[in-house]
Amino acid sequence: MAPFPEEVDVFSAPHWRMKKLVNLYSEKLSNTNFSNSRDFQALLTSLYATLHRVKSHEQIENEYIMDELQLRLRALSVRNSSVSNVHSDNKLSDMLSLFEKGLKNFKNEYEQLNYSRQLKEKLDAFTRDFIPHMKEEEEVFQPLLMEYFTYEELKDIKMKVIARHCTQGRVDTVEVLKELHLWNQAEEFQKPPKNAPGKRAAKGTGRGLL
Ligand code: FEO
Repeated sequence: MAPFPEEVDVFSAPHWRMKKLVNLYSEKLSNTNFSNSRDFQALLTSLYATLHRVKSHEQIENEYIMDELQLRLRALSVRNSSVSNVHSDNKLSDMLSLFEKGLKNFKNEYEQLNYSRQLKEKLDAFTRDFIPHMKEEEEVFQPLLMEYFTYEELKDIKMKVIARHCTQGRVDTVEVLKELHLWNQAEEFQKPPKNAPGKRAAKGTGRGLL
């Protein structure tokens, strides 16, 4: 399929980032020593933060793309159930709950190894679904958007999508650190950079948004 013009392609850029996250967690998963508790907890913390980013990605898509598409189709009396169902399954929330469970202490090594096996299987299954899901958005929903929105409308949607991904990434990191009770790291993360000359520079880096 011919690529869509970059300025109206609302999926490819965020998906490039999502695919990098998938590669990173897959690599970490295969390099982790599951019998070492410290390595294991570090992996879980990282997985939790990563999937939180994926969840935000889906929420941004719902808010700026899918809801808008659904409204447009409804206004034109076009029926398309796939638009409302695109993010309807709960795998992401299930994965986050699984990580939360793993971040609590295990009674013994047997329980930890059992959990590790379950984690690998579920994460593999999630990844097997997530990659085709992104492909579907690019190959099915982007053409629908091209059909029912003007070029200028799509440029505007893309700008909002990218802006939200940029700000949300930082907000997510702080929230996740707080949820995991890593308060010192969260506070550190919210400080302006050492070489920032006052509040104006902090605003320019996007830190003011936190
Ligand atoms: Fe772009 Fe719904 O993942």
